[in-house]
Amino acid sequence: MKSDSAYATLNCFRPGEIWPDTNGVHINAHGGGILFHDSLYYWFGEHKIAGKSGNRAHVGVHVYSSNDLYNWTDRGIALAVSDDPSSPFARGCILERPKVVHHPRTNQFVMWFHLEPPGQEYAGALSGIAVADKITGPFRFLRAFRPNAGHWPENAPESSRSPLTDAELAHIRSLNLQGGPVPGYPEDLIYRRDYQGGQMARDQTLFVDPVTGASYHFYASEDNGTLHISRLRDRDWLETSGQYVREQPGRFHEAPAPFYGNGKYWMFSSDCTAWEPNAARLSVADAPLGPWRDLGNPCRGTALQIETTFESQSTFVLPVVGKPNAFIFMADRWRPENAIDGRYVWLPVQFDPDGTPFIEWLDEWDLDFFSK
Ligand code: GAL
Repeated sequence: MKSDSAYATLNCFRPGEIWPDTNGVHINAHGGGILFHDSLYYWFGEHKIAGKSGNRAHVGVHVYSSNDLYNWTDRGIALAVSDDPSSPFARGCILERPKVVHHPRTNQFVMWFHLEPPGQEYAGALSGIAVADKITGPFRFLRAFRPNAGHWPENAPESSRSPLTDAELAHIRSLNLQGGPVPGYPEDLIYRRDYQGGQMARDQTLFVDPVTGASYHFYASEDNGTLHISRLRDRDWLETSGQYVREQPGRFHEAPAPFYGNGKYWMFSSDCTAWEPNAARLSVADAPLGPWRDLGNPCRGTALQIETTFESQSTFVLPVVGKPNAFIFMADRWRPENAIDGRYVWLPVQFDPDGTPFIEWLDEWDLDFFSK
């Protein structure tokens, strides 16, 4: 997808269009997130290849840098998949939604991502962790695991902190859970089943609380039926602290994208319809560990735009540096038949007079939008 002409500097966002990097090649950083560090933005995301097989990881996590958010320089592969076929992280694994944070005391860059070892489809539901001393990597893969093994959710009642009975286990097995809503979904069984081995973790993100500096892992758990929010171990963010909550049990969430604005914690997320777009939703809380309240669909526009989140699924909310209350909603328009052609939908987060966020479609816009 290299263009013939020399690269022309960009000065606006065109959601859903091909987005050339400074080499003229469509940016390859899907399900991504952005870290601002030393005056530059760094965009990390899934490197996809052409065709259906591009939905698996053949390369790794790609990183780009920019000083203006429009023009992105290819900084290469930050984390490469392993050539060792016995690694959980081997080429052909599923590696999704990588997010990177910078720990202020260890000075390390810490990446968490959703990992499915090759050959098991989405049954693993693991979190992978990698670290680097330099923001562009190379990141070193540390391990993959299910978070919070041996810890009960902070908001689980004492009466629901026991292993499953045989009958409960049989009930879960009879449901044939595939990551989407099913009749009779057991709202309080799956975390109990997974207490010992760790909780399922698929769609995920990291969030550093700008108020306290603590870092949190948001992940779709319990076969996507319940969102977990887990505080990372303060000293290095390389492990969970064991403190976590379950949110909106049975509501089925994916694509969590939290941010802090107007004195509240907000989160965009989606329903669970695989690569097909669905309706977004917004939740609000007074603290990262909740409780989170569902406020419904934050999208405004045509019926189709509202039902499909502008044909996209959230991945991250980017606070624009130096502009108060300026946030960009970042989402993916997936192209599962030709994964490399996935598009990016970036739209400004707008606020109602009462401070509640909403999103509207714009064919083209620039950062002056936030100065109006
Ligand atoms: C989406 C999810 C993606 C990917 C996909 C696979 O719902 O957000 O990250 O897992 O399903 O079907």
